[in-house]
Amino acid sequence: MTAPTCQLWLETVPDQATADDLAALSDDERGHCQRLVRAADRARYARAHRMLREALQAATGKQAGRLVLVPGHNSRPRLQGADDSLDFNLTHAGAFAACAVSTAGRVGVDVETVVPGFDFQSLLYRVATKQEQARLAAMDEPDARRHFYRLWVLKEALGKAIGEGVGLPFDRIRLCPDRGNRLACDLAALGEHGAGWQFTEIDLGEGAVMALALRATDPVPLEWCRGRGLARSVGGSHFA
Ligand SMILES: CC(C)(COP(=O)(O)OP(=O)(O)OC[C@H]1O[C@@H](n2cnc3c(N)ncnc32)[C@H](O)[C@@H]1OP(=O)(O)O)[C@@H](O)C(=O)NCCC(=O)NCCS
Repeated sequence: MTAPTCQLWLETVPDQATADDLAALSDDERGHCQRLVRAADRARYARAHRMLREALQAATGKQAGRLVLVPGHNSRPRLQGADDSLDFNLTHAGAFAACAVSTAGRVGVDVETVVPGFDFQSLLYRVATKQEQARLAAMDEPDARRHFYRLWVLKEALGKAIGEGVGLPFDRIRLCPDRGNRLACDLAALGEHGAGWQFTEIDLGEGAVMALALRATDPVPLEWCRGRGLARSVGGSHFA
């Protein structure tokens, strides 16, 4: 039996959707892409979905163009005809697109652009626990802003792995990086979903942060398939 894996793919996104990216999409994906108003959104979508197809081809051995993606619970995509042993998730924001493909258990990824003027303080009551809010209140810019985004991507990656996305009660989930960059975790609010998680933070430099949440019974090393060089650093995995 082969050991469970979690493969990570990361790419930067071009300014404009390329002909090759568009050609790699299904008719539905291409139609969706072409309806996006902004060129940057079209470029991001096309590159992300092309990369996801390549990642799924590598994992399944099936031709990328023949893979059929269908919406599952809360529109979380799944691969038609695949059994539950394969899971994947996709994210794209700013200059980055990333996806993870797992045979270890449910996986979620999130990348966010750190927006300098964004009023993150007004969202804190919804995103952070009281303890996390206190920690942030003791920080100055730009550390507080970056810390907020780190909390956000960790929680959204978890939400995406479960399928609830931003519908998770972020204000009751503690996933707070401490000074030694360990995570202080309390996932009791998730009930049956609250145990067996592995989290990895990926530092994409000043402008972006990324996190991955993986549910696995045993620790699973991340296998970088593309884009390792784009990450300034990759945090050690934390378990909750
Ligand atoms: C999924 C969700 C987190 C997207 O957040 P985002 O930061 O805008 O986007 P990301 O780039 O990180 O992820 C987008 C990708 O996640 C995937 N995705 C879509 N729904 C998902 C879900 N429920 N869970 C996990 N992943 C999902 C798709 O591949 C999507 O790619 P696409 O938009 O190019 O098709 C957000 O839409 C959400 O929370 N959805 C679930 C809640 C919901 O739908 N509730 C229904 C009642 S309102």
